[in-house]
Amino acid sequence: MKVTYYGHSCVLVEAGGRRLLFDPFISGNELARHIDLNAVPADYLLLSHGHADHVADAVAIARRTGATALANFEVTQWLARQGVAKVHPMNHGGTAQLDCGRVKFVPAIHSSSLPDGAYGGNPGGFVVEAADGAFYFSGDTALTMDMKLIGEATRLRFAALCLGDNFTMGVEDAVIAADFIRCDQILGIHYDTFPPIQIDHAAAIQKFHARGKQLRLLGIGESGDF
Ligand code: NI
Ligand code: MN
Repeated sequence: MKVTYYGHSCVLVEAGGRRLLFDPFISGNELARHIDLNAVPADYLLLSHGHADHVADAVAIARRTGATALANFEVTQWLARQGVAKVHPMNHGGTAQLDCGRVKFVPAIHSSSLPDGAYGGNPGGFVVEAADGAFYFSGDTALTMDMKLIGEATRLRFAALCLGDNFTMGVEDAVIAADFIRCDQILGIHYDTFPPIQIDHAAAIQKFHARGKQLRLLGIGESGDF
């Protein structure tokens, strides 16, 4: 699967012939100044929770592309109020059948208020099962035992795991999370954007390597095969 990183937790995955864009936060990200927001594609927008560093550009992208937005019930209601035409509300444990595969909304331990202070429901992550492979997008979360259920249920090709620490799990817990989900190929997300989440790239890669896992930290705008 082709994966493009747009900085922070914004990831584009091309799976099942569709373009799945996760947690768009580009226009407000100093590190992503070189990314043209108007050139970012999406057939589906998947939003893990309501925080601005995950939904800031969702409305603009949904309006331009006509993408269907998947998120928890409260976040989809908020998007609809901003004029997003196609939304698909979900909640923990539920699976949606899309034309490119199955998407399950799984638990995350975090919080979820929307940028205008509206109630943002509960935060989550996504497990996507497409014909060309399955992957997990963690959203913002602590390490949780629930991740073992993902590893037991689904053979993952790769996982996008938050690892910047402070607001989410850090590198050491993300290594344990990779064990829990039984996945050896990890894309790092939610790091470097703000001072409290800056990480030492070489040290992080080494910590995964020591457990037999590959951590990939793509440059912003860079694509890779996963
Ligand atoms: Ni958050
Ligand atoms: Mn965040």
